[in-house]
Formats: sequence, structure tokens, C-alpha cells
Amino acid sequence: MKSRPTVAIVGATGAVGAEFAACLEQRKFPLGTLKALASARSAGKTMNFRGETIVIEELTEKSFEGVDIALFSAGGSISKKFAPIAVKAGAVVIDNSSAFRMDPSVPLVIPEVNPGRIKEHKGIIANPNCSTITALVPLWPIHRKNRIQRVTIATYQASSGAGAAAMEELVESTRAHLEGRSYAPKVLPHPYAFNVFSHNDTVDPETGYNGEEIKVIRETRKIFEDDAIRVGITCVRVPVLRAHCEAITFECEKPITEDEVRAILSDAPGVKIVDDRAKNYFPMPIDASGQGDILVGRIRKDVSDPTGHSIAMFVSGDQLLKGAALNAVQIAEYLV
Ligand code: A2P
Repeated sequence: MKSRPTVAIVGATGAVGAEFAACLEQRKFPLGTLKALASARSAGKTMNFRGETIVIEELTEKSFEGVDIALFSAGGSISKKFAPIAVKAGAVVIDNSSAFRMDPSVPLVIPEVNPGRIKEHKGIIANPNCSTITALVPLWPIHRKNRIQRVTIATYQASSGAGAAAMEELVESTRAHLEGRSYAPKVLPHPYAFNVFSHNDTVDPETGYNGEEIKVIRETRKIFEDDAIRVGITCVRVPVLRAHCEAITFECEKPITEDEVRAILSDAPGVKIVDDRAKNYFPMPIDASGQGDILVGRIRKDVSDPTGHSIAMFVSGDQLLKGAALNAVQIAEYLV
């Protein structure tokens, strides 16, 4: 890898794409040239990067000549078609879609958990699902000390996970609701303003689990390299713009106390404890938005398990940053 690589962003006009550029700039990623790629609809538009104006180009099969690192976030079908083309042209792809995550030859990486896998890549490195990252950053240091054998998660997911158009839909439908106007949903399947609904990914008719839930279950096993870990999960969208929350209850192999969990997490990379019982101040999307750490609080014994092996907690993380763009840029930093 060159010391000042050429980096391409595929999906540069999207919610995650914009954060790729912001993370590269803020973290002073040592890139030479940035290429911004999107659909033909966006060709010719401009974006700002390090004080320069970058003209957005249409993504084509020729886009990757001279590109060293390609950050993809334009949906699974674009990744499936263009990631192999980018690899063939000599780029390393870090893909934010689900297209390659469960491919055994593709590392699925959270740098705080399994950075060692990055060097095994054969051209593509997958960024995990945002709900997976948000749960696993705090669970991993606990799992390493006292194996987690079972975890139950309920998510409270922001609009950003469904892209820029869904964020716009939340804002516009809220405005319409407050002004007493009707609003027909265009991106999400249900009214978003002042509502909560089961995650919009396809539901498996046999099991009743939706695609998002299945991703978290499978990705957890792959990243922890633990096929025996039992994961139960319910994924839900809430009318929040950009940070996800998750209520997480986990059961360890050996007994564990809330003080032990607090001690482990106080040193854990990528984690910030926000757990003030006196002030009733715990992780909130409004605090998690715009920062890279996963906020963890409400750390307490799970009283439904009298054996003392189980802990409940509540977390919040910026879906666009640690859940997507920041994780990918951290991976890119290992490549240079
Ligand atoms: P565009 O804005 O030109 O449609 P989000 O995840 O926020 O929905 O963003 C999706 C990103 O993927 C956008 O940057 C979008 O570009 C890009 N995209 C969608 N379809 C294509 C396509 N056919 N070719 C290239 N980029 C695409």
C-alpha cells in the first residue's frame, strides 16, 4: 500500500458516504487523492474535502483505475457488481453492505475486536451491520474475560440506517404531522413520525425473524469466532435521526457482577460509560450522535437470573460513525 493512497468513496452522496469523507478528514487519514463516486444522477455535483472542491463522478467499471482503497456504501447490489471490479483494478475494498459479510474468505472486522483478521483479506474487507457493531464493541471485552454464552438484544434503531432518504422522510413526516398535513411514506413501509415499527428488513415467514436480526445473530458468531454463542434479538425502528440504542442482557459462563462489568468497560477501547443513577442519566442518541464511542449505561444485575451469571445494560452508538463510516475508516487506517 502506498503511503498516501488514492481513496474512492462509492456512494459519496449518501448518509454514510458523507461520513466517510468527514472521518477521513477529521482523522487526518494520509490519503493522496479522494475520488467521489455516486449514480449518474449526482455526476457533476460537488462536495468539500479538506478545503477543496471535489466533483462527484458517475460510478462506472472504469472508476477504479489508480484507486488503492475503495470505501463502499451504495447498497448490496452495487457492492456485488462493483467490488470485484475494484479489486481487479488493484484496490482494497472496505464494504459497508451485507453483500460479502458471511463469505468465509472475507474478513468481517471491528477494529476493537478482531483487527488481526484485516491482513487476511483477499481484496475485500466487510464492515459489520451497525446493530452488530453497537452491541459487540462493549460485549467483546466482557466475553474475553468471562465467556458470554447467551445474549438477548432489543434495538431502537434510527432512520440513518435506512439511508439519507429515510432521514429526510423522518423530518418531513414529522413536520407534516405537526402541521396537520397527511404524509404518504415513500422510503419506509409505515408512518415514521411519532411511531415505532418492526425493522423494515424482510421477515422470514418460517422463523419470524427479520433480515436485520439474522444479520446480528450470524455476524456475532463470525466476529467472536464462537458458533456456540446464543443470540436472541428484536429489531425495531424508532423516530430518531442517527444513533441507535440497544437494550442488552447477557449471561456469562461464570458468575459476574455489575462492578466487574463496569471495571472491564472503563478500560475498553471505543466504549464510554454513561451511568448516573442519581441523575437518571444514561446513554441517549442525542449524546451518542456525532461521536465515535459506544455509550454504555444502566449496567445492572439481571434479576431474572438468580444465579448471578447475567447482566443487563443499555447502549447507544452513532449508526453513521461507529456503526458504519468510522469503523470502515479505522479498518483503512490498518492498511496504510
Ligand atoms: P445518488 O445520490 O447519486 O443516488 P443512502 O445510503 O444514504 O441511501 O445513499 C446511497 C448512496 O448510493 C448514494 O450516494 C447514491 O448515489 C448511491 N447510489 C445509489 N444507486 C447507485 C448506482 N446505481 N450507482 C452508483 N451509486 C449509487
